[in-house]
Amino acid sequence: MHDTPHVIGISGSLRDDSGTRIAVQRALDAAVGDGATIEHIDLREWDLPLFDPDAGEADSGDGPELAARVREADALVLGTPVYHGTIASPLKTALDYCSIDDVEGATVGILAVAGGGFPTPTLQHLRASVLELKGWPLPQAVAIPESWAAFEDGHIADEDIAARVEKLGSNVVAYTGVADRREETEQSELATGD
Ligand SMILES: Cc1cc2nc3c(=O)[nH]c(=O)nc-3n(C[C@H](O)[C@H](O)[C@H](O)COP(=O)(O)O)c2cc1C
Repeated sequence: MHDTPHVIGISGSLRDDSGTRIAVQRALDAAVGDGATIEHIDLREWDLPLFDPDAGEADSGDGPELAARVREADALVLGTPVYHGTIASPLKTALDYCSIDDVEGATVGILAVAGGGFPTPTLQHLRASVLELKGWPLPQAVAIPESWAAFEDGHIADEDIAARVEKLGSNVVAYTGVADRREETEQSELATGD
């Protein structure tokens, strides 16, 4: 873990006016306010071919570099639009390039943006992927329904939603390193004989 927590955000929409990107950036801004360094991975700028396990490094575009950046992060903020009731393919492809070695132990904040109602299944799908990668998803994810009304002029229009997104960014910083805490507790118990 870095002395200053490093948080990487990935938003799974390639749309220019993406609400997901706005929300991920708002969470990252809150993380900066709480002392983190950040990087927002804008997938429009990354060459990510559909993941092919048979492809060599030369045919994998920026996939290996993305995985290397994720491995350097202490925490992640993952945002996805809801596409047909689940994770959008750009984010899924980005995650497919990552292995357990890249994500294990990272604290992960999750958010989902839907054109329709509350995107609970998509949050669950994303949480499941993070758990398979041995990341530590925060229990409180953020759902942003009715995206057509939730964003305005590049901002989150609803104050309650904005507050929840900011809390997500603060929480990934507050819980950075949570994966190591049990080990630290066990070691200090061994040292004190408790
Ligand atoms: C291919 C596609 C599938 C979609 N499927 C759903 C869906 O199943 N449920 C839903 O509520 N919205 C659905 N939407 C709407 C998006 O979730 C919504 O427009 C969202 O704001 C997109 O995120 P973005 O603003 O970050 O691009 C879909 C949009 C697209 C383009």
